[in-house]
Amino acid sequence: MKKIKIAPSILSADFSKMGEEVLSLEKCGADIVHCDVMDGVFVNNITFGIKMIEDLRKLTSLPLDCHLMIVHPEKYVERFAKAGADIITVHYETCQENLKEVLKLIKSTGVKCGAVINPDTPVEKIADAIPMCDMVLVMSVFPGFGGQKFIPHSLEKLREVKRIAKECGNIDMDIQIDGGVDLSNVQEIKDAGANVIVAGSAVFNAKDRAEPIKALRA
Ligand code: DX5
Ligand code: ZN
Repeated sequence: MKKIKIAPSILSADFSKMGEEVLSLEKCGADIVHCDVMDGVFVNNITFGIKMIEDLRKLTSLPLDCHLMIVHPEKYVERFAKAGADIITVHYETCQENLKEVLKLIKSTGVKCGAVINPDTPVEKIADAIPMCDMVLVMSVFPGFGGQKFIPHSLEKLREVKRIAKECGNIDMDIQIDGGVDLSNVQEIKDAGANVIVAGSAVFNAKDRAEPIKALRA
């Protein structure tokens, strides 16, 4: 069994005190900081960009996981890498047939790479990219906002990703789930093969953030 890692999403943080928020995640035992970058074009919301990653890099030693929900990610991956991202994930929907090229570009910067699929994109679309991925992210809500309900069909997709990763020998690959994860569904998510658990509202709505982080991991 792979180690379970908890990646709180700072989309649910108070943006007016982002530094303190990230330090609190560190103190509360988070494994990874999940950074939702949104451009208002690919998704119907706008968050933050390269400068946020650069500034957070100086503050924390936790891995920065940059989930790029932006069109033309290939234009920006090198700058996110230089800013201090540890892993950059890009959506199949924004890269289409260029997905493998974009993943290669990310790799060439020395940063880990991952492919993301929306709830209505079948796993087969990224099947040929899975051998080169350090991580695959299965979106379990439509991206854009925190606090949405988990889409159960995502469990089937996790199992399929795991099967393909095994078949092609990429057994070290991480499998990430993002959207609507809480204590009520985390066990079946792990059983389906996810080992990197993103949680926004489940962590940030808690009084003591250490509690959901520990409980989601357990
Ligand atoms: C959605 C983002 C998620 C989101 C998860 O577009 O990619 O990372 O913040 O938030 P919760 O856990 O509240 O669904
Ligand atoms: Zn995300």
